[in-house]
Amino acid sequence: MMIKSFIFIFILHFVIHNECKVHKKGSLRENEINANWKGLWFPKPPNYYDDSIETANVASAANTNKDSWQGPWFPHPPGKSSDVFTEKSDDFAYANKCDNGKQNIAIDFDPEDKRHSYNFLCFGNRTEYEPNFNTSSLLIEYFVPAAYQPPVKCISERIDYNETLPTFGPYRPLAPKFGAYKYLPPQRWLRSLADGAIVFLYHPCAFSGQIKQLQNTLQGCLYRHIISPSLLLTAERPLALLAWGKCLQMSVVDDSRAVQFIKDNAKLGINGKQQKLNLSAHLYDAGLLTESHLVTDEQDSEVCGYKEM
Ligand SMILES: *[C@@H]1O[C@H](CO)[C@@H](O)[C@H](O)[C@H]1NC(C)=O
Ligand SMILES: *[C@@H]1O[C@H](CO)[C@@H](O)[C@H](O)[C@H]1NC(C)=O
Ligand SMILES: *[C@@H]1O[C@H](CO)[C@@H](O)[C@H](O)[C@H]1NC(C)=O
Ligand SMILES: *[C@@H]1O[C@H](CO)[C@@H](O)[C@H](O)[C@H]1NC(C)=O
Repeated sequence: MMIKSFIFIFILHFVIHNECKVHKKGSLRENEINANWKGLWFPKPPNYYDDSIETANVASAANTNKDSWQGPWFPHPPGKSSDVFTEKSDDFAYANKCDNGKQNIAIDFDPEDKRHSYNFLCFGNRTEYEPNFNTSSLLIEYFVPAAYQPPVKCISERIDYNETLPTFGPYRPLAPKFGAYKYLPPQRWLRSLADGAIVFLYHPCAFSGQIKQLQNTLQGCLYRHIISPSLLLTAERPLALLAWGKCLQMSVVDDSRAVQFIKDNAKLGINGKQQKLNLSAHLYDAGLLTESHLVTDEQDSEVCGYKEM
């Protein structure tokens, strides 16, 4: 097979910070709690605003429409038509055995295949994945042109990503159900990102208390979410929230930062605004542990509403 991966050229400028800066004093917000407390705050004072977040910006995705792909397109090449992502095309894919979410899925991941279990098991030294308050969050934003339409490829074709942690790019036609998975491959959750979902990835060696905390926050914020372990994360920052073209990687869960990220980026993607979700459509659910619950309604008309005072 002469299948070339989808190639982007990125220039990442990492704003290098001294890694030991999260504990430095952040600015306190208006209604400062000027309590008489003279001791130490853990992990930080109330109303503390951590402005030491590192931002690694901004990749140029100028070449995003130049896919090196030489094979057939499904349903048609990018730029050919703008309504690529209708339910009709999903049903077309399903009906035409392009991708029914069951056959040949092992090309990405097969939950029935024991050899694929390495995707969700921890073989590392857990100590190295422990939360470290000295490691600040890392927000990476890629510039993805609004007109960019990712290739949608049938299950017969490999999809490889150049990025270590892809936040946009080609995916499978059949969208996954929203919810928590034993493991969901990137070829599926990239579709969810395009649909405006927030994806929470954690390294299988990450601290379970931290995973649980971020999971609870996300599940309370919106229906449109995916939760999965992933080996794409590092020991330094084994937790990440993803949106279309963006990711926030963390060593320690910062709840207010996470909520802000979710509110800012939910329902964007390329389909997030226009597409109404069809819950009775055929969906991928291999490896699904728990399906997502509605928070407000199917369209998530309010995001993280419970966090409002
Ligand atoms: C795990 O890593 C820590 C810190 O790097 C080290 O002190 C410890 O010995 C390692 N444990 C094992 C079993 O390798
Ligand atoms: C965090 O930084 C402080 C001050 O630099 C240092 O004393 C401490 O050992 C560091 N903790 C970890 C877990 O790296
Ligand atoms: C993308 O992949 C190509 C070929 O596999 C490689 O030459 C290139 O360095 C990669 N780019 C990045 C940014 O990783
Ligand atoms: C939702 O999907 C189902 C199954 O594919 C289809 O029969 C139905 O017409 C779709 N509904 C809408 C509103 O598109």
